[in-house]
Amino acid sequence: MASDIEIRTRPPIEEFFKDLTLTLKGKTKHILRCVLGKLSPGHVSAVLGPSGAGKTIFLSVLIGKAVGCTVTRVILINGKPELVQSYMKIICFLPQDDIVHKNLIVQKNP
Ligand SMILES: Nc1ncnc2c1ncn2[C@@H]1O[C@H](COP(=O)(O)OP(=O)(O)OP(=O)(O)O)[C@@H](O)[C@H]1O
Ligand SMILES: [Mg+2]
Repeated sequence: MASDIEIRTRPPIEEFFKDLTLTLKGKTKHILRCVLGKLSPGHVSAVLGPSGAGKTIFLSVLIGKAVGCTVTRVILINGKPELVQSYMKIICFLPQDDIVHKNLIVQKNP
C-alpha cells in the first residue's frame, strides 16, 4: 500500500499519443494504425473493442511494456516528449486476469 509520502509526491500525468502504429513481429498486418488520443489525470477513459482488437497491447504500449511487436508513435507526457518508461513505477494497468485480494481496500487520496 502507498504511504502518505508516496501519494503526495506522485505527479499528475497527462499522456498524449499520436501516430501510434503497432505491428506484430514477423507479421506485416497492423494491429493499431495512426491512433491519436489523450489520457488525462482525473478522468476515466475507456478502450472498447472485440476480443483480439488490440486493447491489451494498446495499454501495454501506453505504459511502455509492449513486447513481441514493433511500435512507432509520438508520446508526450505533460506536453513534453519524454520516455513513458521513466514513469513505469507510477503508471500501470491491472490485467483482466489479475487476482483481487479480499483484504485490499480502496484508499482515498488526501
Ligand atoms: N506478444 C504478442 N505476440 C504475438 N501476438 C500478440 C501478442 N500480444 C497480442 N497479440 C495478438 O495481437 C492481437 C491483439 O491482442 P490483444 O490481447 O491486445 O487483444 P484484446 O483486445 O486485449 O483481446 P481480449 O478482449 O480478448 O483481451 C491478437 O490477435 C493477439 O493474438
Ligand atoms: Mg485483453
